[in-house]
Amino acid sequence: MILLYFCVHFFVQISGQRPYGDVENVLLEFIQTGTKPTNLDNVLQEVFFNADDTDKENEILCSVCRIVSNIVINARKDGLSKEVLSNFSKELCILLSDFGYETCSGYIDIIMDSILYIIDNKSDLTAERVCAIRFQTNNCEDAAYIPWSIDIPPGKSQNSNDKVNVIHLTDIHYDPLYEPKSEATCNEILCCESTSGKAKFVENEAGFWGDYRACDMPWNAIEDLLKQIRKEHSKIDRVYFTGDIISHQVWNTTKEDNKVYITKMLQKLQDSFGEISVYPILGNHESHPTDFYPPTQVTDTEFSIEWLFRFLAEAWSRWLPTDTLKTIRKGGYYTVLVKPGFRIIALNSNVCFTYNLWLILDDKDPYGQLQWLSDTLLEAEKNKESVHILSHIPPGDSECLQQWSHEFRRIIERFHGIITAQFNGHTHLDELRVFFNSEDQDEVVNVAFNGGSFTTFIGFNPGYKIYQVENRYNRIIDYEQWTYNLSTANEDPNNKPNWFKLYSFKNTYGFQPDNLERFHWLLQNMSKNFQLVEEYRRLQGRNSSIVINTNCNKKCLHDILCTMKSVEYSDLSVCQNQYDMKKIKIEL
Ligand SMILES: *[C@@H]1O[C@H](CO)[C@@H](O)[C@H](O)[C@H]1NC(C)=O
Ligand SMILES: *[C@@H]1O[C@H](CO)[C@@H](O)[C@H](O)[C@H]1NC(C)=O
Ligand SMILES: *[C@@H]1O[C@H](CO)[C@@H](O)[C@H](O)[C@H]1NC(C)=O
Ligand SMILES: *[C@@H]1O[C@H](CO)[C@@H](O)[C@H](O)[C@H]1NC(C)=O
Ligand SMILES: *[C@@H]1O[C@H](CO)[C@@H](O)[C@H](O)[C@H]1NC(C)=O
Ligand SMILES: *[C@@H]1O[C@H](CO)[C@@H](O)[C@H](O)[C@H]1NC(C)=O
Ligand SMILES: [Zn+2]
Ligand SMILES: [Zn+2]
Repeated sequence: MILLYFCVHFFVQISGQRPYGDVENVLLEFIQTGTKPTNLDNVLQEVFFNADDTDKENEILCSVCRIVSNIVINARKDGLSKEVLSNFSKELCILLSDFGYETCSGYIDIIMDSILYIIDNKSDLTAERVCAIRFQTNNCEDAAYIPWSIDIPPGKSQNSNDKVNVIHLTDIHYDPLYEPKSEATCNEILCCESTSGKAKFVENEAGFWGDYRACDMPWNAIEDLLKQIRKEHSKIDRVYFTGDIISHQVWNTTKEDNKVYITKMLQKLQDSFGEISVYPILGNHESHPTDFYPPTQVTDTEFSIEWLFRFLAEAWSRWLPTDTLKTIRKGGYYTVLVKPGFRIIALNSNVCFTYNLWLILDDKDPYGQLQWLSDTLLEAEKNKESVHILSHIPPGDSECLQQWSHEFRRIIERFHGIITAQFNGHTHLDELRVFFNSEDQDEVVNVAFNGGSFTTFIGFNPGYKIYQVENRYNRIIDYEQWTYNLSTANEDPNNKPNWFKLYSFKNTYGFQPDNLERFHWLLQNMSKNFQLVEEYRRLQGRNSSIVINTNCNKKCLHDILCTMKSVEYSDLSVCQNQYDMKKIKIEL
């Protein structure tokens, strides 16, 4: 068997050599002449044609990424112009992604100066580094990477009536250009916009309340959401808003437009919730360019992200005490003592997102945020406070930088006794991330809850969550996910969305979410009975017909289970491969 494996591997390497050679030649020709060689499409297609499973596909992707990066880095040293690099990047984007000209061309125009800054200012830049960060989720590696670490003071985490209701809103993705009856099946990353044109067929018309296809949310749907929340829940004590206000139209963002739409959304939240405090955090879509959070040392106004931090420090101050200004201005994060004994820590985890290409310039604890987190938790521990952590990107997401997740996990393990819950967004999935003790795989030490998303992007029903929190340690004793069937709402323009409670955690899983031990049993049960994972998957997407009708096979369900229990990428990748090995054993 082992022999067979080597033979196959050897064959791949041999047969892989020629296409890679062609790729290199054709890309070199492109860069050197500035003109796209006529055989570029064919050569790239041919090389990916060999990809018959995910591992192979990843291997090819990493190789192509390294070839491209090497060529670009070297060519830039020889004076490659911005124009040629832009044209080159646009062509590759169109060929290698599913996106069309608008998305690729617009986004690359927006990010190109940042890319050049990174290449020009990182003297020891290697292709391996570029690919290992941007394509971490495809297992690209950089053997020369030097891990960094956070100083976490030694110590042992201690373990630790009125109920409080907390609303969790996330990933609203307001699209100011949304237009009912526009084209919902365009080639770009986002459709259903006035600029997408009128739908060619009736069945392609964007719906009045939103659309399951690649579309974000119209304002009328956002107004309805907030009306619903105020009407349905008479007692709301606070609101967690875990980021992503701006739409997916990444090819057409500007600082000014982002500020206008953020302002509009925050004003709407204030008008709707009045005296109730909202605790907002940043999403990856709030920056310009989208996803880009340059490190502190980048001070040129063209690239610096200070404009956003300063703007939000001001805009969020309607809900936050003034002592939060300093850290928001520094890195978009803050902490608030909500009442004696209870603290919220709000992070800007977008720095760890592997699409934040500034990580290539410098990935070491951006904005000193994790060190601050550890220090802040130590102080909270001394003061016997319990803590909720808000963070846009879920811990251990396959697209959150491995080293950042690893250090984050160390911090959680050290202080899990006072962290009574974590709240995330970003994936648009109503999901759980379970932290196991890295020294004892049976002990659950913490859980992160994802609010799902209000946006339907892509194929989900709109949603929000309401948590019941006990007053002493601020543990979550239950929560509900609310939603509506978008197809029904869109059937008749006179319809209003018909909101309903989709499920409550306690009723569905049979225990309270503050009972950490039971999460271990839940995962055990799920690994023996994939039907339970399938039910979890449907709830992840708020039980939309699209989600129900999507087939998730055993490998797909297994990966969902892996995602639930992995809080750093290395664990996820090991867990996902375990299934492959089992499958191979059975099939041989
Ligand atoms: C790149 O340049 C070529 C001309 O060399 C042009 O035909 C092509 O449209 C350009 N591509 C993009 C994406 O701008
Ligand atoms: C970084 O590179 C840009 C060119 O892209 C240059 O203008 C700038 O001065 C460089 N900054 C530093 C700090 O070296
Ligand atoms: C780009 O965004 C602005 C602001 O939202 C909008 O007015 C304009 O129509 C958009 N352009 C395109 C081509 O989508
Ligand atoms: C949502 O509504 C549509 C149209 O009324 C219906 O066909 C569909 O079955 C509903 N979806 C679910 C999951 O109930
Ligand atoms: C796991 O399954 C057992 C046996 O079917 C059941 O008694 C238990 O309640 C389940 N536990 C969880 C957390 O789902
Ligand atoms: C999800 O929708 C299906 C089809 O309409 C329905 O049978 C099922 O009960 C729904 N699940 C929940 C949790 O409401
Ligand atoms: Zn989002
Ligand atoms: Zn996001």
